[in-house]
Amino acid sequence: MQPEEIRKLAELALKARERAYIPYSHFAVGAAVLMDSGKVFQGCNIENLSYSATICAERTAIFKAVSEGEKKFQAIAVAGGPEGREPEEYCFPCAVCLQVMSEFFSPGTEIYIVRREDDYQTYHLSDLLPHVFDSLKV
Ligand code: THU
Repeated sequence: MQPEEIRKLAELALKARERAYIPYSHFAVGAAVLMDSGKVFQGCNIENLSYSATICAERTAIFKAVSEGEKKFQAIAVAGGPEGREPEEYCFPCAVCLQVMSEFFSPGTEIYIVRREDDYQTYHLSDLLPHVFDSLKV
């Protein structure tokens, strides 16, 4: 992707962060997925008093896309850090989110880990999940 497109996707991930529902961890994560169709879906983490019912920002965005009939993912941007300030660290997707990505993404799908719209690291899914459970893959 071109730097200007990445910047836009990064901005949307940072914007989604502001909508995180995080009364327990106070750790806000935002994600934005770009589809081959050009559509973008945003997601934030949504926590629950029964902690395991929490959903991560990446899965929110991915599930929003799939539930709207879109399954061709071009890239995802993720930004996370303590509530109320800009991320200081690069926040990597958890293993559950990587597994969900592996369901829909190609090994080469790009993952941008964002601190600010002009400060991000670029990975491919295969960098973050080199060996994947896909034995039953249809
Ligand atoms: N979180 C995400 O949204 N994405 C990840 O990949 C890792 C963790 C959320 C879950 C929880 O609401 C908070 O960050 C602290 O773990």
